[in-house]
Amino acid sequence: MSRHVSKIDAAIPVVRPKAEAGHERWQEGWTHLATCGAARGPSPVANPQGALDYSKRHYTIWHNPRWHRGDLLNPFEFGRELGPDELVDRETELAAAVAAMTGARKLFLIGPRRYGKTSILRAATDRARARKAVVLRYDAEAYPTLEQLAGRLLVDTASALTSTVERAAKAMRDCFASVRPEATYNARESSWSVSLGAASDAGQSSVPLLADVLDGVERAAKKAGRPVAVVIDEFQKVVEDGGVEAEGQIRAAVQRHRHVGYVFAGSKTRLLAEMTGNPNRPFYKLGEVRFVGAVPRPDFAAFLERGFAAGDIPVADGATDAILDAAEEVPYNVQLLAHACWESCRSKATGQRARRGKSEAVTLTPELVLATRNTVALRNDPIYSQLWSSLPPSQQKGLIALIREGGVQLTSTDVARRYKLPVPSMQKGLKALEAKAIVREEQSRGATRLRLEDPLFSAWVELVVPR
Ligand SMILES: Nc1ncnc2c1ncn2[C@@H]1O[C@H](COP(=O)(O)OP(=O)(O)O)[C@@H](O)[C@H]1O
Ligand SMILES: [Mg+2]
Repeated sequence: MSRHVSKIDAAIPVVRPKAEAGHERWQEGWTHLATCGAARGPSPVANPQGALDYSKRHYTIWHNPRWHRGDLLNPFEFGRELGPDELVDRETELAAAVAAMTGARKLFLIGPRRYGKTSILRAATDRARARKAVVLRYDAEAYPTLEQLAGRLLVDTASALTSTVERAAKAMRDCFASVRPEATYNARESSWSVSLGAASDAGQSSVPLLADVLDGVERAAKKAGRPVAVVIDEFQKVVEDGGVEAEGQIRAAVQRHRHVGYVFAGSKTRLLAEMTGNPNRPFYKLGEVRFVGAVPRPDFAAFLERGFAAGDIPVADGATDAILDAAEEVPYNVQLLAHACWESCRSKATGQRARRGKSEAVTLTPELVLATRNTVALRNDPIYSQLWSSLPPSQQKGLIALIREGGVQLTSTDVARRYKLPVPSMQKGLKALEAKAIVREEQSRGATRLRLEDPLFSAWVELVVPR
């Protein structure tokens, strides 16, 4: 809108609400209204005064810099990888990831989904690349097989570390001979496709392939003489697909490498924590382990306040706390709820302007936050209804108990009795919910509590399931 206005403003002397508008000026104003697609008011010939009033209102509503902020973008973003300037906090995690990428170290980033691991990886990648590192980053869940992941890593390494197609082909032959790559280059799309000859050998699983390719990356990095990093997001997928054999082989390779930095990030907190923290497992003490937890509350609150201030939305006492509480401080949900609140406040203000020709800012209050949370939860009703009805009674009861008891002491006889479920059934129900990734265990300061992965689902249960 602002670009449009300034172009029009430059071309036509516009009628501002406070201007003394003469006959010729409202005609100019009318031309402008026509270009704005808003010339639906009274005809300037038949009703000069009416047209002038209409024109004034148009400018007041659409082009008044104080009121009209329709060009503002909602500052709250969810569901995409954030860049380094958009992250709240996370400086230490970022620094650790950049150090691993540029200094050939090994780092595990472990945390629940939606807490910002991928965003940290993306931001650290940007920073490491600014320091001339070659960062090869993959989401293991995006590859149906480990062989495909290995193939991609191979061609990316060869093409990132060389300047011509011929040199890339040579690097593939020289550094990755053990997996016998057969690569073809598509000049139109400037891309490589590859199949690994070793993969077709009878009895060969794709785990050693990945380990072999990592060895090749080490050889290529040694020759390149610049920092190289391999980043694998959702790393648990590699281990789930390849089993303990994968852990052992990858560790054996990675452990020897001195020229490649590794960052492995993953979501199945229990699995990865066990993998890196259990002395009997191959990845034990292979590298630094960092847990990605909640964003510090005061930092997140200040970020929310800045975002609402940028939209000229006054914030009542307790409103940002209400957002953080309703979203259970899960960063994705905090941003989602703040986004919806921002939208709601601004569209209410715009609605007022359209009805009364004037607008007053709509304040963000704790009540508005809860109402918005409910609206957003109910918007997902079809998904949540389906999920809920797919759960057997023991899991439904377990879920209700979890929500109402705050996730603690759920298998005590007292809780089991109150929710009319024998203790063993409660235990089984909760385990099943964890296996379905509806519920996760959170360990903090020696205490364990169960939480819903998606705080909006718990809002939906409270709204829809009768007490
Ligand atoms: N540090 C942060 N500051 C602000 N918002 C964040 C932060 N980390 C995550 N988010 C929010 O959470 C969303 C999901 O983050 P993502 O990195 O995809 O999480 P994960 O990889 O752990 O599932 C982001 O799109 C963003 O809205
Ligand atoms: Mg992620």
